[in-house]
Amino acid sequence: MTAMDALDVLTHEHRQIQHVLDLVARAVERGKQGEFVSASLFLRAANFFLTYVDGSHHAKEMVLFQTMLVHRLPLATSLLSQVSGEHGTGTEQALALRDAAEAALREGADPEPMLTAAEAYLRLQQGHTTAEETQVFPLARRLLPANVLERMRTRFARIEASHGSLAEAVDAMERAFAPARPPVRPLAVGGVRSF
Ligand SMILES: [Fe+2]
Ligand SMILES: [Fe+2]
Repeated sequence: MTAMDALDVLTHEHRQIQHVLDLVARAVERGKQGEFVSASLFLRAANFFLTYVDGSHHAKEMVLFQTMLVHRLPLATSLLSQVSGEHGTGTEQALALRDAAEAALREGADPEPMLTAAEAYLRLQQGHTTAEETQVFPLARRLLPANVLERMRTRFARIEASHGSLAEAVDAMERAFAPARPPVRPLAVGGVRSF
């Protein structure tokens, strides 16, 4: 097999989305250490999550989940209701992050609610992606016929076309988050906190 099939596409998207999650995690860490964090970057991140994670990636996964239910794969019902429910929670958390970032921008005040909202989103995505890659995708890989996965790619392409390229959106986020000059010290994890 040379071309990526539907499951490869979804797994690849997880890696791309992870780049943005890592950028946000580093910004949260800096904010927690009392450094200035840009609320407009968090607002951009929330909009990325809504448009690309929710609108594009999750929409593609819902095609997969629906197909798994139609093909009556074993264990699919409970597993898929869990991960589908997490898509809904993810949307709510991204909206909460957007609201918190907008409030921080408007009032220029306490970034704490925004950092807390971002952390909640990061936590959910971590567990969610793991469940998909260790349980959902392997089940689909084992039991869905290759021609079914092939047809799914056509539907994925249609979803992607209506949202724009996920890869390009990730690149834009990386540019937006890039520091104006290289950081002078390595990432401090668990360092001295300013409160
Ligand atoms: Fe998902
Ligand atoms: Fe996913």
